Amino acid sequence: MRRPVRIAVTGAAGAISYSLLFKIAAGEMMGKDQPVILQLIELPHAMDSLRGVAMELMDCAYPLLHTITLHDSVEAGFRGAHYALLVGAKPRGPGMERRDLLEENAAIFARQGKALNDFANRDVKVLITGNPANTNALIASRNAPNLSPSQFTCLTRLDHNRAKGILANHCGATTRDIGGIMIWGNHSPTQYPDLHQATILGRPAMSQIDTAWYRDEFIPKVQQRGGEIIEARGLSSAASAAQAIVDQMRDWVLGTDPGEIISMGILSDGSYGITKGIFYSFPVRCNYGRYQIVHDIEVGDFSRQRLTATEQELLDEKEIVEHLLPKETEESH
Ligand code: NAD
Ligand code: LMR
Repeated sequence: MRRPVRIAVTGAAGAISYSLLFKIAAGEMMGKDQPVILQLIELPHAMDSLRGVAMELMDCAYPLLHTITLHDSVEAGFRGAHYALLVGAKPRGPGMERRDLLEENAAIFARQGKALNDFANRDVKVLITGNPANTNALIASRNAPNLSPSQFTCLTRLDHNRAKGILANHCGATTRDIGGIMIWGNHSPTQYPDLHQATILGRPAMSQIDTAWYRDEFIPKVQQRGGEIIEARGLSSAASAAQAIVDQMRDWVLGTDPGEIISMGILSDGSYGITKGIFYSFPVRCNYGRYQIVHDIEVGDFSRQRLTATEQELLDEKEIVEHLLPKETEESH
């Protein structure tokens, strides 16, 4: 048996975590031969609730669940963490946009970046889910000068999975038949779900769907799916978000299937002309615990406009939180 890995999760008594933690403990994220230590973090007032979650985890008797520790501070909870899942934040309610959470959640991610910098394992892999996820990732990474920004990612896998599910449903295919989906940009209504490289049963998706359906129905549906769920449930997506977290981390750590492309929010290195220094969702492949942007994808005029619109939104968000971004140093690159 391997040595256990330490996985820190913030917002561990929240709705997403109530699905997520059980999947991790069952081996769905790190693999069926990888024991895990769960370092669960909550706000002080939610510790009773967290104890209840821990009891339930114990009562599942998962063979891979080595230890559970409970923490009411990120400084203690991130200690030695190999993986950090930053879920805890305030979710939006009906009628709000994710960027309305910017000010409120930003301070949380500045502190969490510092705590990761000071207490986590030097190779920690971080996934930010709390909204607005891209800009929170920027804040956290900039507050962690001793970690590489490439260790920080934000969740756009949910949008990727949504695009795949909605396309499969429309075409009467199964999601296994679909490849080449990509989400560009922000986890927000400006994101661009791109089907120009997508395939259904190996043939181009664009030749099998109506262009008007793609432009006028599919794109807005994926962009607005989070809001549609909030309207329907009165609460934001939780189980599907947990599945997306598991999918992204599993692919990052264990590798994507040969030929498979996934979407991850990562620090832009200038690829595809996107401004460096913002967290932007790109098409990537993963191998040996690293991700690489898939290059040489043709970006036509229709796509370029959308790539630029979502880039601009991220630049605007960055400007709003500028005061929380410590100056970049040479070592932080
Ligand atoms: P929730 O309100 O059910 O749970 C959040 C939990 O986080 C609460 O228990 C709260 O006490 C805790 N928390 C808040 N601040 C914390 C902090 N500083 N440290 C530790 N814990 C803290 O919310 P949820 O439904 O689990 O959603 C969590 C976040 O994920 C929200 O911001 C939501 O908008 C976001 N989200 C993102 C995606 C995505 O695809 N990126 C998808 C779904 C939800
Ligand atoms: C989602 O996409 O479901 C989440 O980001 C929650 C939200 O606020 O939409």
